Amino acid sequence: PRHAGRGADGALQLAGTDVRDLAAEFGTPMMVMDELDFRSRCQDFADAFGSAGQVHYAGKAFLSGRVVDWLADEGMALDVCTGGELALALSREFPAQRITLHGSNKSTAELTAAVRGRIGAIVVDSFDEIGRLAGLVESEGRNGADPVPVMVRVTVGVEAHTHEFIATAHEDQKFGFSLAGGDAAEAVRRILANSGLRLVGLHSHIGSQIFDPSGFEVAAHRLVGLLRDLLDEHPALTDTITTLDLGGGLGIAYTEEDRPPTADAMAKSLTEIVTRECQAAGLVVPTIAVEPGRAIVGPGTVTVYEVGTIKDVALDGRHTRRYVSVDGGMSDNIRTALYDADYTVTLASRSSDAAPVRCRVVGRHCESGDIVVRDCYLPADLAVGDLIAVAATGAYCYVMASNYNRVPRPPVVTVREGTARVMLRRETDDDLLRLEMP
Ligand code: LLP
Repeated sequence: PRHAGRGADGALQLAGTDVRDLAAEFGTPMMVMDELDFRSRCQDFADAFGSAGQVHYAGKAFLSGRVVDWLADEGMALDVCTGGELALALSREFPAQRITLHGSNKSTAELTAAVRGRIGAIVVDSFDEIGRLAGLVESEGRNGADPVPVMVRVTVGVEAHTHEFIATAHEDQKFGFSLAGGDAAEAVRRILANSGLRLVGLHSHIGSQIFDPSGFEVAAHRLVGLLRDLLDEHPALTDTITTLDLGGGLGIAYTEEDRPPTADAMAKSLTEIVTRECQAAGLVVPTIAVEPGRAIVGPGTVTVYEVGTIKDVALDGRHTRRYVSVDGGMSDNIRTALYDADYTVTLASRSSDAAPVRCRVVGRHCESGDIVVRDCYLPADLAVGDLIAVAATGAYCYVMASNYNRVPRPPVVTVREGTARVMLRRETDDDLLRLEMP
């Protein structure tokens, strides 16, 4: 977090609050989110892309009612990918015009909510969906003067250098319409043939936790190429296709070695490419939209755990591995088990001058893959009862949390200028019982 430091006695301070006080008040494990860190990263993106761009926060990375309010305050747009995220945004009266709906298998109910809610755009992802939408605009009477704004999700054929599960623009995966195979152009034709739909943009998302900006650049280049071909075929579209959306995916630093590009660098290179190539083709330069999730919410959150057991396990005659077990684990952070993700962990309740010892931080769940941090160094005098903090857990941890082994989800607490407020309370045993039928 941008507002983290150590107090006089060495304990971790988050936005002017002492992590020991937070733990005493809210219990562990808990997630602590630095509000001004989140807001400042929204501002960084807004400043980087300027008035010619549009920044959508990707709600799938983390969403709560309070975060929706912050986004509204900051003038951000919001991407949702389910009816659940949409309903949350609308329940906080987030401006519908600034919402975009994504998803590779949207239900009729989700599409209906988006159409009735008059959101900014629906990003269509399949021919089936175009058919479903066509039926819907008919039954909702949304043709002629009042068409539904849509974008086409294009598979641009980029191999993003990231984990296989989170790369999304190579051909062999479920998202989007293939550019090379001609499906993207066909999707555009079908949309144009329907007076109830209005094509407002082209969309690409190449993957997540990306460090190499060239993938975005190739995607931008290919979307401009598609735009040029479309405008050749249908010159009247110049006024309606106003947006090229390059998706999310900007990586963040999880460890000291990670050097992700900045929002500024991303904005500069994308703006430069799109502007140059559109001008060369005689096109009006469209708005460049981006959809960062992780880069906004990831870095400003830490998960605080209490150490419960410490065990030295003999590996061979000469080596041991120290297993540090905490009171959470794969139910609040599945990313290590799922993507082999790496995190930085620190002793939070005090400082220590003891020598660093190689450790593995593991959770409380009933499987050996329940690892929070595979390899890290913690002081040799680490003791049961100490608090440790895992950094950069704001994105894709809480939202992917589960009740595995009937473990309640932790609370999420926001901190700002010395004040802490619960944003999402800890689940209780009663919460877990509420689905039971007699
Ligand atoms: N836009 C679209 C269409 C997306 O599918 C995604 C992420 C984003 C934006 C935001 O990407 P970001 O800026 O956060 O990288 N659970 C995985 C990440 C899955 C990302 C899915 N789509 C993880 O924990 O790494």
